[in-house]
Amino acid sequence: MPGRVAGIKKRRFIGVGAVNISELEKRYVNQALDDNRLSYGHFTNRFERAFARAHKVRYALFCNSGTSALQVGLHAMKKQYGWEDGMEVLVPAVTFVASVNVILENRLTPVLVDVDPVYFEMDAAEAEKKITERTVAIMPVHLCGCPCDMDELMGLKKRYNLRMIEDSCETMFARYRGKPVGSFGEVGCFSTYAAHILVTGVGGFAVTNDPELAVSIKSLYNHGRDGIYTNPDDTKFRSLNQLFTIVARRFNFLDVGYSYRATELESALGLGQMRRWREIVALRKRNARALTRVLKRFSKYLQLPTKRPSAEHVFMMYPIVVKAGVDRDELILFLEKNGIETRYLLPLTNQPVYERMWGHIEDDYPVAKHLNQNGFYIGCHPEITKDDVEYIGKVFGRYFGH
Ligand SMILES: Cc1ncc(COP(=O)(O)O)c(C=O)c1O
Repeated sequence: MPGRVAGIKKRRFIGVGAVNISELEKRYVNQALDDNRLSYGHFTNRFERAFARAHKVRYALFCNSGTSALQVGLHAMKKQYGWEDGMEVLVPAVTFVASVNVILENRLTPVLVDVDPVYFEMDAAEAEKKITERTVAIMPVHLCGCPCDMDELMGLKKRYNLRMIEDSCETMFARYRGKPVGSFGEVGCFSTYAAHILVTGVGGFAVTNDPELAVSIKSLYNHGRDGIYTNPDDTKFRSLNQLFTIVARRFNFLDVGYSYRATELESALGLGQMRRWREIVALRKRNARALTRVLKRFSKYLQLPTKRPSAEHVFMMYPIVVKAGVDRDELILFLEKNGIETRYLLPLTNQPVYERMWGHIEDDYPVAKHLNQNGFYIGCHPEITKDDVEYIGKVFGRYFGH
């Protein structure tokens, strides 16, 4: 990493994510170690309850990744609603590969829907055109911390009698017309992987208000174990008779499940961060405002992120789209050389894995293609300081020559 590029003194590396472990998390992790119980215990139970409360849902079930949560969430829905193999699920053409992969892994058919050019999320009008008699569900992806257009998508859900699983892996604690995203569909899924809003290393939540789905989800990520043992309320004390039933059925397996459990250590980290989620989100919003303040003078060259009027934006990242005449790859190379880490804006339709399966599909999704070629993001996490923001502004200024 160069210390100096053309007169700009590089202060430090500004990553797309950062880890911030407070004393409280360290204390909780040590407590978890002292408790001698590393799999499902009181930290996971408290983390799940706190997360459910914050998202105004009955059940939040913590497992080992956002992808696992999506995988078992969709599996539980497929089972509960009796979907046959090959039924169709609408998913945006710009998202992380996991959204599409879990549909494939559940032997369902992903039907890609182009996105809108402002928020980069599923375009409801495009989605409607893709609905067939085989469509069973819709998977809105709340990208970069920005809730989808839920008025329109919930309208589609209702009109066509579809189920919904929200991929909210990039968006936590964000409300759309006052309602937390992740709580609109039958199931909502979140990730606590590095660089997300809460960071536990690996981890993910599936949330639902449906007790049957909750039991099913918890069972599926626990090898398909009998729900008598995996019931979300199983920590409550029961009578001796009930206890005997649990003991007798504890080793029953009802489905072909998965081993997707998290540990108490992730939950201890997560519970500590739950105590200060408001502060984490406020810092992300503050950083986004500050970045916009220093970058808006380049609006001739850059499309900067905006917030939907009807929703909060929690800025898991700060997405930017270059305008005509700007070479995206040259710009991000310049940023990287100056210590500002970047990522492409979740290109999906040009991934080698899907090209191999579906051929060249990129041209069928023009907005996604435009974003594949011109979009990228930089970090917006709480560790970014005012100085970092000034520095970012200067580096862009240097690139654009003013
Ligand atoms: C939109 C989206 N979906 C799913 C995932 C998968 O989450 P995890 O990495 O926890 O499996 C991610 C992760 O970054 C994501 O951004």
